Amino acid sequence: MGRGASAYFGTMFDVGSQGRVTLGEYALVHGARIICDSTIEIHDYALISWNVLLMDNYRVPRDPDARRHLLERVPVLSDRRLDGNTEPAPIVIGRNAWVGFDVCVLPGVSVGEGSIVGARSVVIEEVPPFTVGAGNPARVIRTLQR
Ligand SMILES: CC(C)(COP(=O)(O)OP(=O)(O)OC[C@H]1O[C@@H](n2cnc3c(N)ncnc32)[C@H](O)[C@@H]1OP(=O)(O)O)[C@@H](O)C(=O)NCCC(=O)NCCS
Repeated sequence: MGRGASAYFGTMFDVGSQGRVTLGEYALVHGARIICDSTIEIHDYALISWNVLLMDNYRVPRDPDARRHLLERVPVLSDRRLDGNTEPAPIVIGRNAWVGFDVCVLPGVSVGEGSIVGARSVVIEEVPPFTVGAGNPARVIRTLQR
């Protein structure tokens, strides 16, 4: 946590043994779910609104048999952790970016410096710096002054 960073009540950190979440200076996270097995970087002055999901790993296999076996194992694990050995991919939320409420950011995606992600968007690819991205899937709807 950087100087002046905040993670408000309701923010959930589900961080695996190799995971690392960083909040830059004056970054503010307001009740997000953060699921991290590699790295999730939230840079300085980034604002993450209510109920956002940042997920660097799906944790669940696509193959139905493998998924069933995973679910059978969960009840006998001491931590009951759902972990299908799937590959994580880092997430970066750039400096001064603003991620609107109910947004879902998928593995391997970055939101560029100064950008805005519209409410309820699903971010499946990079939102370039100083743009507004919105929708499902999120697309650039405008560019911003630097
Ligand atoms: C994205 C946002 C900032 C508006 O940006 P804007 O540049 O003023 O966009 P506009 O309202 O002019 O809309 C431009 C287009 O994007 C679409 N759009 C805007 N927000 C959208 C969203 N969240 N999801 C999908 N489409 C969206 C509009 O329908 C419009 O489409 P059209 O050109 O086909 O008519 C705003 O809609 C938003 O989602 N704000 C987030 C608010 C929030 O989360 N607040 C939490 C408090 S921290």
